[in-house]
Amino acid sequence: MKNILFASSECVPFIKTGGLADVVGSLPKNFDKEKYDVRVVLPKYTCINAKWKDQMEYIDHFYMDIAGSDQYVGILKYVYESITFYFIDNEYYFSGFAPYDGDPKWNIEKFAFFSKAVLSILPVIDYRPDLIHCHDWQTGLIPVYLDNFRFLGEYYRGIKTVMTIHNLKFQGVWDTKSVQYITGLPDYYFVPDKMEAYKDANLLKGGIVYADKVTTVSQTYAEEIKTAFYGESLDGLMSARSNDLCGIVNGLDYDIYCPYKDERITRQFSVDDFRKNKPLNKQALQEELGLEKDPKVMMIGMVSRLTDQKGFDLVDCIMDDLCQDAVQIVVLGTGDAKYENMFRYFAWKYAGKVAANIFYSEDLSHRVYASCDAFLMPSLFEPCGLSQLMSLRYGTIPIVRETGGLKDTVEPYNEFEKTGTGFSFTNYNAHEMLGTIRYAEHIFYDKKREWNKIVERAMEADFSWKNSAKQYDDLYTSLLGE
Ligand code: ADP
Ligand code: GLC
Repeated sequence: MKNILFASSECVPFIKTGGLADVVGSLPKNFDKEKYDVRVVLPKYTCINAKWKDQMEYIDHFYMDIAGSDQYVGILKYVYESITFYFIDNEYYFSGFAPYDGDPKWNIEKFAFFSKAVLSILPVIDYRPDLIHCHDWQTGLIPVYLDNFRFLGEYYRGIKTVMTIHNLKFQGVWDTKSVQYITGLPDYYFVPDKMEAYKDANLLKGGIVYADKVTTVSQTYAEEIKTAFYGESLDGLMSARSNDLCGIVNGLDYDIYCPYKDERITRQFSVDDFRKNKPLNKQALQEELGLEKDPKVMMIGMVSRLTDQKGFDLVDCIMDDLCQDAVQIVVLGTGDAKYENMFRYFAWKYAGKVAANIFYSEDLSHRVYASCDAFLMPSLFEPCGLSQLMSLRYGTIPIVRETGGLKDTVEPYNEFEKTGTGFSFTNYNAHEMLGTIRYAEHIFYDKKREWNKIVERAMEADFSWKNSAKQYDDLYTSLLGE
């Protein structure tokens, strides 16, 4: 039996701002329990729902040196769906309304504390991981501290690390002097072949340099980040580590996202009865959101963080044109004010046709995935993307730009070979996108049998964790042996 510890800043069902939480919440359940004891460690944010916090069991506490002071490290434990979760408690760092706030330096200090605490609690919880699986910049310091902790004795030697990049855009960068003060790490680490990048300290870079293996969440993105356009100025490092870098596409929690069991949607459906039952969801959503009641109109959905990454500037460019067509548009998202206001504006201008839901709601997200006919995701870059996988599962046909995980998971419709699960375009160009949406409209309205075949193929595509968990298993085995 090998012990694998996941360290992450978010995880479903406790705390979520994006797909990272979905991945960390579902992947651990998909390993062979005879082979791996997978546990997860998270910050105990005060904004975690009380229904979870009330069930956590206090284990122990101690004090740890960080940012020039002695900080409380509380350890709590909770077993959920047979996975053991540890929560690190410290109200100074983990209070606030959300896991991250606007102050980058504070975020760095917060997750430096978390990363050091993850290693520091190990001797206390009586669980020594053979491997720590780190996720994103917030845990980038773990492999670095682990290197440094070797000097503390035998206990920390030989623990392997995997660093998974969910989004290379976010790296945790601040000036070297401050980061050195916060982390307490020696000068040795603050040089260009270690944690320093372009004169600043870079936490993700530290993780990438010191991890035994580096992964990202799709094969295409693993290639893209070796190029200047997608490399976020770490493309050189990604190329340098390419022998230890691989892409493993994300899976989806098929219990949570399941059209025939989902209690959040109006009418459940399966690949056998979607023709009859899926449209009932659309009608209910039209009613709920005050859209014109029309069971036949093509409804296009978007559920997303409203940021530049997701391609909303393209949407802005063509909304007026698109709204001349027989379509309805449903948006659920929060993020940059410019995009929040843009969708509010179009919802006002095209009342009854465009619905802008500028808030966060898991419940409504399921209803959007289930009710729409198509799902628009024209990302500028997309490490993997889970929204398109959710859409596929509910027979809602993705219209995507061919980048990262979108390219790896959505097979473009080919009307001659009668293959494909969605529609895609190559260039980051608003009119290329509009052309693709209009082609989808044409198939939807004029070739309904063809459209329904696409829906069937989409619903039957397998993006459960089965294949991808096997690839992580192989990766762990390559480091730990059988
Ligand atoms: P990213 O992690 O880059 O935001 P993903 O597609 O991997 O993109 O994951 C996004 C996740 O966040 C999905 O589970 C999606 O349903 C969810 N999500 C995004 N915005 C909202 C929202 N406003 N309400 C509910 N869920 C949302
Ligand atoms: C990031 C990426 C997204 C990916 C998610 C989970 O948030 O933006 O593409 O699906 O992480 O890996």
